[in-house]
Amino acid sequence: MSQLTFDEAAVRSLEATYMSPDVVAQRGRVLDLLVPAVGERILDVGVGPGLLARDVARLVGETGRMVGLDNAPAMVAAAAQRLSDLPQAQVLQGDAGRLDFPDAAFDAAVSTQVYEYVPDMPQALGELHRVLRPGGRALILDTDWRSIVWHSSDPARMDRVLACWDAHLADPHLPARLGPLLRQAGFEVRRVEIVPMLSPRWQPASYAGGMMRSIHNFVRANGGRFGLSSDEIEAWRLDQDALIARDEFFFSLNRYAFLATR
Ligand SMILES: C[S@@+](CC[C@H](N)C(=O)[O-])C[C@H]1O[C@@H](n2cnc3c(N)ncnc32)[C@H](O)[C@@H]1O
Repeated sequence: MSQLTFDEAAVRSLEATYMSPDVVAQRGRVLDLLVPAVGERILDVGVGPGLLARDVARLVGETGRMVGLDNAPAMVAAAAQRLSDLPQAQVLQGDAGRLDFPDAAFDAAVSTQVYEYVPDMPQALGELHRVLRPGGRALILDTDWRSIVWHSSDPARMDRVLACWDAHLADPHLPARLGPLLRQAGFEVRRVEIVPMLSPRWQPASYAGGMMRSIHNFVRANGGRFGLSSDEIEAWRLDQDALIARDEFFFSLNRYAFLATR
């Protein structure tokens, strides 16, 4: 398995993609579903560069507590800097599979685009359940890469590129299993929604634009193991450039938001 490295370059790349209108809208929807209230204690598992955590910290206010957790030192540093002016916020290094908090320490937890990287989901959801108080909320959002519709002049080549990209995750189809996994961990699933990343035309400052760059980099580094030659990878990229030039670009991918309670 060859997963992504969440280093300083990844921080910059994620920040650029996550400030695009698609992902700003996603954060808005996550906040609508989570409804952080003044005074609440909220955990963000896999806080990344801290964009969502900053919104949550402002909503819980100085009487609340916002704890961001991440296992990548570069992400911890970026989130800590982003949250440094908010005394109710704290960023810690740690793993989603072993939460170093007492039982029932939080009123709610949020985790966007993280559990798809986690190999042992029963363990991680068991930990999430333990650190929430009875009645506490969990809002989990992940992508199912089977939902992708990405126009190409060579669909078979696109499938090979995306099969390689699937290897950056522990489970590229986690949402399809997430409901049963949550129930097995003791949660009650209250609501499930699709959060689409839709680019019906090319727009460089978009989730699709960010993915084009990330997938190109990942496939160049890992494609050999999937039988993808560098010529084929460049042909895939040039095809996208040609579609963009003819205004024929199309990209659609679904993320799934699960709201559950303990
Ligand atoms: C795609 S980023 C999402 C960041 C953030 N949640 C967001 O939506 O903006 C995935 C994050 O999960 C973190 N991560 C991956 N596996 C993790 C684990 N086992 N424990 C804690 N953090 C993890 C990575 O370091 C990275 O910051």
